[in-house]
Amino acid sequence: MDCLLWIPALAGHIGLCSFLFNRTHATAWPHVWRKLIEKFVVFGSVLPLVLLPGWLWQQGSLSFRNSLDASPWLAAYLALSLIASGYFFAAWTYRLLTRTKPANWQNPQRDYFNGEEILHQRLTHGIVAKLLSWVPGNQATAIALEHYRIAVPKLPAGTTLKICQLTDLHLTGQIDIAYYKLIIEQVNRWEPDLVLITGDLVDQHHCLNWLDRIFKPLQAHYGKFYILGNHDRRIRPESELRTRLEEAQLQRVGGAWLAVETGEIGTLLLAGNELPWFPGAESLRPLPAEDQRLRILLSHSPDQIDWARSFNFDLIFCGHTHGGQVRFPVIGPILCPSRYGVRYACGPFQVGSALMHVSRGISGDRPIRINCPPEVGLFTLVGTA
Ligand SMILES: [Fe+2]
Repeated sequence: MDCLLWIPALAGHIGLCSFLFNRTHATAWPHVWRKLIEKFVVFGSVLPLVLLPGWLWQQGSLSFRNSLDASPWLAAYLALSLIASGYFFAAWTYRLLTRTKPANWQNPQRDYFNGEEILHQRLTHGIVAKLLSWVPGNQATAIALEHYRIAVPKLPAGTTLKICQLTDLHLTGQIDIAYYKLIIEQVNRWEPDLVLITGDLVDQHHCLNWLDRIFKPLQAHYGKFYILGNHDRRIRPESELRTRLEEAQLQRVGGAWLAVETGEIGTLLLAGNELPWFPGAESLRPLPAEDQRLRILLSHSPDQIDWARSFNFDLIFCGHTHGGQVRFPVIGPILCPSRYGVRYACGPFQVGSALMHVSRGISGDRPIRINCPPEVGLFTLVGTA
């Protein structure tokens, strides 16, 4: 029966490869290094699955113990993989048992729309995107419109504020601009008070011309605000990207409190965090405790939660993780570019006094989504003071 040990050993091996991928993609290391590691991880995770059956056939036995005798290096790695599988299983169980939805959070409605069905056209371009579009169950252009309600004690009772979050558009040219314009039309129908855009906007330089066409028609009563994400570093110079975004009437939120007047609700405070890819957030200064204005953070990555705790934010909007993009039944996602692994892949989290929402985002470097639909969120804040 020791042949059954191959199953946890392989699971541990996949877990170790994912661990390496997730942690390196949470860093600001140069793109070329991260891509090299990505290729190494993909190759390294698939190779044993391809070679193992043939090797076992050659050995003439499925026995796990006999394989340990074949090579001390193999024995050491198999032992490590078994330990890793135990660790990952324990971490998965712990997450399952301890995660609770924040008390003041409701997700009362989810609507889907399929971009290709509505527009009656293929929305993918290029060989890779077209191949991926044929993968059964790929939801890359079928977006979920999420309606969330959040009770906010800092806002006066009877008042509401509608915030729309857009994140991780990843303009590469692989998905047609018509898809993004369709999303903006939908957001305008919501008539949001604020639009918060939390990074990874443009991957390819030739898509800079799209920014004006996508974001200028976007409407919000009190403003449209943005930060950048790791993929935006591909656009050089950075100043050109920021100029284009500002020409598209988006306002930068950086390492200083930005006061936004919102009529009967009063003044809100916004701050942005683009770490570790762009500096700026280090210069944010704490506010006095008696300042009771609503504090909202735009942070590309949820990895900044420790930084955020010291500023007593009320709401934190993040992207970056894409929900893992491919979510397996029961297991959930495996790949998630965060130093916390898949812990903050998507959804609402209570972080001290703050409510943090990690969006699945709109697209990705590669347009593949399995059991993880792209997301645009409308957050209705309901005052309870
Ligand atoms: Fe992203």
